[in-house]
Amino acid sequence: MTLHQRNITATCRFPKTESDAEETLAQLKAELIGDGNAKKNLATFCQTYESAEVKELMDLSISKNMIDRDEYPETAKIEECCIHMIADLWNAPDAGNPAGTSTVGSSEACMLGGLAMYWKWRERRQLAGLDWSKPNLVSGPVQVCWEKFCRYWDIELRQTPMEDGLYAATPEQLLGLLDENTIGVVATFGLTFTGQYEPIEAICDALDQYESRTGRNLQVHVDAASGGFLAPFCAEEIRWDFQNPRVLSISASGHKFGLAPLGCGWILWRSHDDLPERLIFHVNYLGGDEEVFQLNFSRPAGPVISQYFEFLRLGYEGYRRIQMHSYEVAQWLSKKIKATCYFEMLSEGDPLEGIPALSWRLSKESSAAFNLYDLSVELRKKGWQVPSYTLPANAQAIVVQRILVRQDFTMSMARLFMKDLHEALNCLEASHIKAPATQETAGGFNHAG
Ligand SMILES: Cc1ncc(COP(=O)(O)O)c(C=O)c1O
Repeated sequence: MTLHQRNITATCRFPKTESDAEETLAQLKAELIGDGNAKKNLATFCQTYESAEVKELMDLSISKNMIDRDEYPETAKIEECCIHMIADLWNAPDAGNPAGTSTVGSSEACMLGGLAMYWKWRERRQLAGLDWSKPNLVSGPVQVCWEKFCRYWDIELRQTPMEDGLYAATPEQLLGLLDENTIGVVATFGLTFTGQYEPIEAICDALDQYESRTGRNLQVHVDAASGGFLAPFCAEEIRWDFQNPRVLSISASGHKFGLAPLGCGWILWRSHDDLPERLIFHVNYLGGDEEVFQLNFSRPAGPVISQYFEFLRLGYEGYRRIQMHSYEVAQWLSKKIKATCYFEMLSEGDPLEGIPALSWRLSKESSAAFNLYDLSVELRKKGWQVPSYTLPANAQAIVVQRILVRQDFTMSMARLFMKDLHEALNCLEASHIKAPATQETAGGFNHAG
């Protein structure tokens, strides 16, 4: 059984004979035309723009394996240099000697962050002769990678509930879930559901008070999948990073707002001491002594090399220019979407509040004759992928729509989107829908999992 139930035909058998490469390529290209247009995919957080230089670097490094540091020492230096640069960006206390690694994306980075937290907690419990059989992890509404982490490693996930009007964890909610079996707290800096930043500094302050009350010293992993490459350039006033002594580790996706092509994530720890030595493997079969702390082994080096290229060429100034432009486009769109009078905005692309994402629900006053799934279907006819989905417990009755404004979503595209949105709304109003669409019929992937 395959994981994805698709309409696989009988022709999908392993071919017995060879075929002409050119013909096969042409056929495959024709098949791929049926895929969505990445530029109009407003659901994804990931990069959909690659410059000519990045394409050249990806091509140049197609056979370089990131794990093989002995064969590719220059690539290894590039990865190390990126880690130093990110440590600088995230205010690591010892940015000259940072502890971190590249990963295939944020999911792997989060797994490593969670594992390090879990092992440290377990070590402490074992040393004190205490029970360590019932670990739990406390968080706000997290992306599915944390559910995976908890299920794969048998850890209870305690998430704060969302409520109508409350879409991110509050420090008080988090405190209510802690106990002696809590391995740590995960705070999301750029929530998958709405794009909002959780209040990292306030959460750390609340944990200070919790420690003085209970003696329990709990640390925070910041899942900055999107915010990690936004706030350092566009919201310097937010103290979300290693400036907070309670922040133990931070992960982010290079391939989201880090502007690297797909296949690049990062995780950094506050110090080398925060990374349990036993989680690091030493292998010698590639030629030298390789330190490995990753879930997979072989991985393409192109995304990391391209990440380095973007750091070098753009610098602080370039990142700020690109990201602020995304916020401007997001804010323009937010005003126009509000002006349709159908929607209530949950996030509006304010750099101090979250990432350049917009999310909205049908406003309570709206007498729309359609639901948001119908609107997703109508927009899809025009090539736009705008996911509709329900929020997690206790706000599961609320259906929202969300769009991400990435670097290649220009103002001209935003105007085109608004034109198409107006047309879709008019069409829906005129059509008197008899069978409203549902999450199943509307389809669409919202990246929450
Ligand atoms: C907050 C958050 N964490 C983790 C992830 C997983 O990231 P990746 O797709 O890079 O594995 C996402 C993806 O959208 C996310 O939004």
